[in-house]
Amino acid sequence: MTTKKIIITTALALALPLAAYAQKELPAYLDDTKEIEVRVEDALKRMTLDEKIRVVHAQSKFSSAGVPRLGLPDFWTDDGPHGVRPDVLWDEWEQAGQTNDSCLAFPALTCLAATWNPEIAYLYGESLGEEALYRGKDMILGPGVNIYRTPLNGRNFEYMGEDPYLASRMVVPYVEGLQSKGVAACVKHYALNNDEEYRNQVNVVVDDRTLHEIYLPAFKAAITEGKAWAIMGAYNLYKNQHNCHNEILLNKILKQDWKFDGVVVSDWGGTHNTDEAVMNGLDMEFGSWTNGLSWGASNAYDNYYLANPYKKAIKEGKFTTKELDEKVRRVLRLFFRTTMNRNRPAGFLCSESHYEAARKIAEEGVVLLKNDNLRSTKTPVLPIDLKSVKRVLVVGENAVKMMTVGGGSSSLKVQREISPLDGLRTRLKGVAEVDYARGYVGDVTGEYNGVTTGQNLKDDRSADELIAEAVAKAKGADYVIVFGGLNKSDYQDCEGHDRKEFALPYAQDRLVEALASANARTVFVNISGNAVAMPWASQVPAIVQGWFIGSEAGTALASILVGDANPSGKLPFSWMNSLNEYGAHALNAYPGTWREDKKIIDEEYKEGIFVGYRWADKEKLKPLFAFGHGLSYTTFEYGKAERLPNGDIKVSVRNTGSRAGAEIVQLYIRDVKSSLPRPVKELKGFKKVWLQPGESVEVVFSIDNSMLSYYDDTKGEWVAEPGQFEALIGASASDIKCKVAFDLK
Ligand code: GLC
Repeated sequence: MTTKKIIITTALALALPLAAYAQKELPAYLDDTKEIEVRVEDALKRMTLDEKIRVVHAQSKFSSAGVPRLGLPDFWTDDGPHGVRPDVLWDEWEQAGQTNDSCLAFPALTCLAATWNPEIAYLYGESLGEEALYRGKDMILGPGVNIYRTPLNGRNFEYMGEDPYLASRMVVPYVEGLQSKGVAACVKHYALNNDEEYRNQVNVVVDDRTLHEIYLPAFKAAITEGKAWAIMGAYNLYKNQHNCHNEILLNKILKQDWKFDGVVVSDWGGTHNTDEAVMNGLDMEFGSWTNGLSWGASNAYDNYYLANPYKKAIKEGKFTTKELDEKVRRVLRLFFRTTMNRNRPAGFLCSESHYEAARKIAEEGVVLLKNDNLRSTKTPVLPIDLKSVKRVLVVGENAVKMMTVGGGSSSLKVQREISPLDGLRTRLKGVAEVDYARGYVGDVTGEYNGVTTGQNLKDDRSADELIAEAVAKAKGADYVIVFGGLNKSDYQDCEGHDRKEFALPYAQDRLVEALASANARTVFVNISGNAVAMPWASQVPAIVQGWFIGSEAGTALASILVGDANPSGKLPFSWMNSLNEYGAHALNAYPGTWREDKKIIDEEYKEGIFVGYRWADKEKLKPLFAFGHGLSYTTFEYGKAERLPNGDIKVSVRNTGSRAGAEIVQLYIRDVKSSLPRPVKELKGFKKVWLQPGESVEVVFSIDNSMLSYYDDTKGEWVAEPGQFEALIGASASDIKCKVAFDLK
């Protein structure tokens, strides 16, 4: 019985250079900041007014000008957070038709968050950086870290869940990994872009405490710890000012308080006037008069707000070049960190190492939500029993439909995408017959921005016929594996719109209920970036959250379902039973209230800091599946938490099952008595531990004031109030194993 001792550092201590923890040397050029500053000032001195104006706005859909006379090349950016978007034409949204830009799709960031493994986030960023370098991209428009406030938000699949601490810990290494290759991260969408439906018209109304405790931490971590070189202003407004030129968010919080030295990039079409763009901190204007998706004015670049209108205003003496020089300094700094960085490595695309990384991220991010014992065998349904299985029925459109095409700007053109059906057929070859039934018809299109899947999913049968066929086939199968969920088509987890309801679309509920009564070994694998209603959850013995997990989807899902890999993912958001169990909906605080002129919709975040499990705890609601929930094929036992003399909290965890597995030990902090209302508990630490059968480990969390504080918006600072606290150790937000009280003097 070996016991490994693991020391956990606090949130602050984690700010130590990730190199220590990613066991990687910080790239040399990251250290020669002073040399970069010398080069910035030198270049700035030499630039003409025209050259300065040209570098602060786009010249094509995804590029901005360099300074050829000084040897500074054009600057290229591209989407997106999960892989490098295929090239569009210089000034169109349509495909350029390149034959060398088929990429690898990594799992969506919600899946990355579900790994609760910062090391994996670093690997993700590194791998994506190498793909970007090969494709000649100097900045990736990602990662996104907007908070999961409503399960309807079309872009939650691109983000890292509901909890600011988890998102903070996962975004930092992603940024570090990406930028270790000399490719800039552009963290987005700053800030409060938490739904899509009216993203250009929403004016978010939120109190300062909620802003600082819930919606800013992940951005702050990306900037102040991850040292992100760029950040993208969001489409929406805050305090009636567009986020792409917002005095408070950009000048005050980002540049003054957080000392951000990088570039503020507008979202595509997020810039709305010259004066604000000049004065309120916008540094690079992209995509004006486009919707960032599929339409927009062509060749408007000289008329951009920071182009001729700005130059004219300077000529007329309305502005000196003071603000312009500050913008250009930041853009030059970005150049010397990327295009002008002598140490930048070469990149490569679709390498085996990247496929391996994608599989690893996917296998670690898939969440086993439910895995009940079968009445007949008294053993859990999953993993599939390879010794006895003869026939598996796979059901559902999501077992075959390509998911890497669609969803908005994160859509990709991949070299390959292994479907769940193909993944299972490959893995079970020679072991069992794998049959297929469509089960339901959802979205038969397969095209985005001119990238086509080549799939013909057309099927005119009725829901009744499709269900009848699946049920008939289910009767003779040892297992029925249903792949359902959403599919990144419009209104089904896609940019630009939110879902209209919490329920699954396409009559999937009827299908699942029919199959569950036809076969006791029915497994539902939900492919989505959001929680969905599961009224049949008690009738289905096994449920898996499969996410949108990219090129290696089928390989990873098959590996989990047959037990080659032991699932270890945990939910990065609360999975409630119904929509009104989320604060935003219980208080009718989504999507907001239109003003008289129908131009602006005020969305007041009435739930305040009580987002996700914070809301569930406050309202004493029992989630269907809790934040931080995820099962394993083995079992873990927790010892009692104890407080060490130095204040650290120690707990032992043992693998009490028969196979190796990983457990994510979570630390929540409760402020027993506080002068302001506080959540019952808040995540302030976690550690993923891998244990052999019988092995145990001592996990130690060190506690510091940052973990005990709340944001006092009357003082504008974080306050840790003396008094009684509790450290709660949990396997999820609803599964607290033990706790220990302590006092803050
Ligand atoms: C889109 C998105 C943003 C994307 C940009 C370029 O509208 O909001 O995430 O990076 O425009 O496609």
